[in-house]
Amino acid sequence: MKKTLNIGHRGAKGHEPENTLPSFQKALDFNVDGIELDVHICKTGELIVIHDFTVDRTTNGSGAVSELSLSELKTLRINDEIEVPTLEEVLDLVGKKCFINIELKGRHTAKPVSHLIEKHILEKEYSYNDFIVSSFQREELEMMFTINPNIHLGILTQASVNQALEWASTFSAKAIHPHFSLLTEENVKKAQDEGFKVYTWTINETEDIERIKTYEVNGIITDFPERI
Ligand code: G3P
Ligand code: CA
Repeated sequence: MKKTLNIGHRGAKGHEPENTLPSFQKALDFNVDGIELDVHICKTGELIVIHDFTVDRTTNGSGAVSELSLSELKTLRINDEIEVPTLEEVLDLVGKKCFINIELKGRHTAKPVSHLIEKHILEKEYSYNDFIVSSFQREELEMMFTINPNIHLGILTQASVNQALEWASTFSAKAIHPHFSLLTEENVKKAQDEGFKVYTWTINETEDIERIKTYEVNGIITDFPERI
């Protein structure tokens, strides 16, 4: 059986608050192959690692990320003590210890993310293999492909593997990222035969992990990296 890459969802969300430096450190402690995270852009233009469009669910503040400046975001706390990280801070923590799956969650994130990746490749000896950029949003994927076709793309879907494959061809993606409930042994093989990796999410139950592994997917995104 092929090796299944172990990718920590929002770090190690099953153990630490999602999308925080402690969560990414925990994932590294589990020796993950990659980490997944979500990005939005804030009012002052910095890339912020947070899942939702607002800070309400995960921090002690309220409001849309796009309406808050970096200094305002930095006054907020997650679980009373943890700051909301920027993408740059996460990259500094992770170094090149594993690859980073950057999900473009917010609008207008493709351009700044491509610049940040290019800067890390030019100035810090990263390679394109250290990153995969995924999104559900066609406009962001299209923008990323137009700006820099060398950046590895992953097509997220919770609707249809076939539609993901169509977009994957359009944007010369490296991978499709389907929800695990969409997978069959046949469609995983079809995707791979067409030249795409299959990174699936978010699988936390051991029984599901073992079943999906038999389909020989390329990677599993999980809140519990120790279970892969
Ligand atoms: O990238 C896989 C997964 O993270 C997509 O869903 O809601 O957890 O961002 P969500
Ligand atoms: Ca995500």
